[in-house]
Amino acid sequence: MNILILGGGGREHSLAWAVLQNPKCDKLIVAPGNAGIAQIATCANLDIEDPGAVVDFAAEEAIDFVIVGPEAPLAAGVVDALDAAEILAFGPSGAAARLEASKTFTKEICEAAGAPTAAWARFTDVDAAKDYIHKAGAPIVVKADGLAAGKGVIVAETEEHAIIAVEDMLGGGFGAAGASVVIEEFMAGEEASFFVLSDGETVLPIGTAQDHKRVGEGDTGPNTGGMGAYSPAPVLTDAVAEGALERIVKPTIAEMARRGTPYRGVLYAGLMIENGEARLVEYNVRFGDPECQVLMMRLGAQALDLMLACAEGRLSEMAVTWAEDHAMTVVMAAEGYPGAYEKGSVIGGLDGLPEDSRHMTFHAGTAREGGQWRAAGGRVLNVTARGDTLADARDEAYAMVDRIDWPGGFCRRDIGWRAL
Ligand code: AMP
Ligand code: GLY
Repeated sequence: MNILILGGGGREHSLAWAVLQNPKCDKLIVAPGNAGIAQIATCANLDIEDPGAVVDFAAEEAIDFVIVGPEAPLAAGVVDALDAAEILAFGPSGAAARLEASKTFTKEICEAAGAPTAAWARFTDVDAAKDYIHKAGAPIVVKADGLAAGKGVIVAETEEHAIIAVEDMLGGGFGAAGASVVIEEFMAGEEASFFVLSDGETVLPIGTAQDHKRVGEGDTGPNTGGMGAYSPAPVLTDAVAEGALERIVKPTIAEMARRGTPYRGVLYAGLMIENGEARLVEYNVRFGDPECQVLMMRLGAQALDLMLACAEGRLSEMAVTWAEDHAMTVVMAAEGYPGAYEKGSVIGGLDGLPEDSRHMTFHAGTAREGGQWRAAGGRVLNVTARGDTLADARDEAYAMVDRIDWPGGFCRRDIGWRAL
């Protein structure tokens, strides 16, 4: 079959890598892709947030199955348009993608579904928000209601800090995404990510992961898109995962179906775990990046079968075959990230690295110029390895990192410390 993947980061490189291992895939196009993806698949220029353009391109290329990586095309209704054109697609409708696109919507669904999450209130008025913050006290969390590219959440240590965040968001600092704010209780505990597939009815867990959001070792410094991840997440024991599945995820899927907007695709539940109980922090309607990279490394070729069954409503026939192993990805970023960084520095040593079912360097932001690899983004490489234990996976991944000769780049040396 002919497959189109939408997106151009390390996540999509890992999706392409897994899809290509499955003999069902005859032709693979990734749009827009990136220089690393171009080594294994055809890349195409396409405005992936324009539903009409995606449908036209898929029709021209005789695409049988579209896999959507990032949230923006989902929220823009790309899957709705593909459905209408009878082109099979993996990902939720625009209506179901509100689980990520609107914090208020997610909170309302949780309330209706009885899913445990932080106490919350929504505000469009600064004074009312200030009153609430004074009553609730700090620490407290302030969130822009809409999609803010991962930057719309402020965990405030003081009431003053929370009020500044509210004034900034409601004052237009976040554009339309900040027209209203959600203020919620600070939840203590350990965070982990729980991934399930749903075809609207059946829910199938496909793995757990933890990432490191802070740029500095020991989880310090500013937030980033993620500096590394590993799977499975030991804090999500079978019992905790079962509790999250029964009390949070399944009731959410049932509530979405009851509202006539069934959820189809991968649902990524960000959980806070304290004393063996999980509460929902947020939903994402896509695979995490870099969590996808470790999930794909562990799932391999079956990832395509699972995504197809999800899109075709056949998940009840499926089971996941797990190797009893671990995967880790270490993000290499350009010096300066997540602040200002330079593009164009030369990266050596990549071409000799192992590439097999246990080792892969996924590209998030590289360029290939005159036979050389160069950095072309903030997060640039996802050096990924599998091992029988998490420590083995870590050793393999860092052995690859140590062979990369990139004076303009850096990585954290402590990925996995919490689990190890
Ligand atoms: P979100 O975009 O909702 O995932 O929030 C980004 C990050 O902020 C989360 O991964 C958590 O680390 C943190 N966070 C969000 N909401 C809360 C909360 N209610 N309590 C504690 N931390 C939170
Ligand atoms: N790594 C976090 C995310 O993809 O949202």
